[in-house]
Amino acid sequence: MTNPAFADIGACVFDAYGTLFDVHSAIRRGGGALGDKADAVSDLWRRKQLEYTWLRSLMGEHVDFWQVTGDGLAYAMAAQGVEDSALHEQLMNLYLSLDAYPDVADCLKRLRAGGKKTAILTNGTPAMVQAAVESAGLTDSLDAALSVEDVGIYKPDRRVYQFAVDRLETKAERICFVSTNAWDASGAANFGFRVAWMNRFGQQPERLPGELSAVMASLEELPGLLGL
Ligand code: LAC
Repeated sequence: MTNPAFADIGACVFDAYGTLFDVHSAIRRGGGALGDKADAVSDLWRRKQLEYTWLRSLMGEHVDFWQVTGDGLAYAMAAQGVEDSALHEQLMNLYLSLDAYPDVADCLKRLRAGGKKTAILTNGTPAMVQAAVESAGLTDSLDAALSVEDVGIYKPDRRVYQFAVDRLETKAERICFVSTNAWDASGAANFGFRVAWMNRFGQQPERLPGELSAVMASLEELPGLLGL
């Protein structure tokens, strides 16, 4: 059912990792050697990767997401007592061809058919996101893939969301932002986007500023929210 908050949307902007691409597919595919430590390494890898983006932003010590992703993996492996540089390299390479979630391709197609622009706004480097988009066969379903590397700081800094407004030449209130990461959804809503939080994992809502316009369990719900 159409949600009035999304009555005049010109563009849908998606977070990449966790929203379109399954970050745990790297260890699922290449982490066999981790045995029963696989899930713990995968969870901690993601947690440290994100923490490092926030901490480096606060410290004024930006490095790109490839570096931060490698540092997060190194921490997670060490925390589980795993020392294996070949495995580290293999898992990093798998980050370039993560699985897209099954609801992604059809959702993007329906949005484009309904006349909406579609874009990614991600912490990932241009090379990382381009590789993931190509490997998932989504190149033709996206108008743009925007990276924080053009801004030099990570989400949820307001300048990152403003970058999407500038690049897509679409006012903030006409952008529907979609993220599974609740903190990113809050940051985007606080900036001024209309936000549909995709609560894939049944998480608690964050206690952060920013009013979310909708909560979805799957991307299948998005075209309907926009009246398509
Ligand atoms: C991204 C991270 C936040 O794609 O998942 O920007």
